[in-house]
Amino acid sequence: MVINLHEGYKKANLFFTPDNASSYDIVVKIATLGRDRFWKKRIIDALDAKMLRSSYYLSSVSLPYSFQSNTNLDLASGTGILSGMIEREACRHEASRSVVCLDLAFHYLQIAKKKCARGLLTNATAELLPYRAESFDSITSSYLSKYVNVEAVVKECWRVLKSRGLVVFHDFTYPSGWIARSLWNFYFGLLKLVAKGVITWAHAFHDLDRVIKSSNWVHKTSQALRVNGFSNIIIRFYTMQTSAIVLGQKP
Ligand SMILES: C[S@@+](CC[C@H](N)C(=O)[O-])C[C@H]1O[C@@H](n2cnc3c(N)ncnc32)[C@H](O)[C@@H]1O
Repeated sequence: MVINLHEGYKKANLFFTPDNASSYDIVVKIATLGRDRFWKKRIIDALDAKMLRSSYYLSSVSLPYSFQSNTNLDLASGTGILSGMIEREACRHEASRSVVCLDLAFHYLQIAKKKCARGLLTNATAELLPYRAESFDSITSSYLSKYVNVEAVVKECWRVLKSRGLVVFHDFTYPSGWIARSLWNFYFGLLKLVAKGVITWAHAFHDLDRVIKSSNWVHKTSQALRVNGFSNIIIRFYTMQTSAIVLGQKP
């Protein structure tokens, strides 16, 4: 099969390199002023169907898989921050949820291996998933959508997801209000300036603001979910609309 590579593929290869894999976790924590953890907790809430429960009458929602035992695919898992959190949360509930990590960057996956004791690692693109149909109970992704052809990813998610499974996309967004936009532009200007002094991250922060501004991933993802037949689609914005979650359920 031949696929046309999205422009974001080039960006991702430039941003996430063997040289910056070991510092990724601390950089994302500092650059998001700690919000990364808060947003990822909201992804876990979504997996736990808390968002569905609060957005729809419970009777109209067929809850996904049993929380006790299921397999989650974490697309663009990177160094495994989210995958590790999902595994730890499952341990806390004495559930046997395993996580399969998938990422383009091999060196990032090597770090993920230390955090995900139970799961498998896959070095591949999210646009063409090397798994059989209906293999997963849920799929997550954090900071992937702006780098991919999201229509292709959603189509693949539909194929590999079991019936009643959930897919959760999370990424940065460019806020719409002028106050939030001014703060956002100021903050990203500052990040760019600081990153100039950190050679392994200078490339990523030089372009990240442009990539976020030019991405229309929230609209594209929710459209693609609808077109592919997903139901119970929910969009939530966080932290002055600087980040969003888009969720869908396979009927
Ligand atoms: C900002 S990191 C996010 C890592 C992790 N999800 C997290 O939240 O910390 C973005 C990741 O997306 C991966 N990526 C970008 N394009 C991809 C693609 N087409 N398929 C799989 N992974 C991709 C990069 O290699 C990188 O590890």
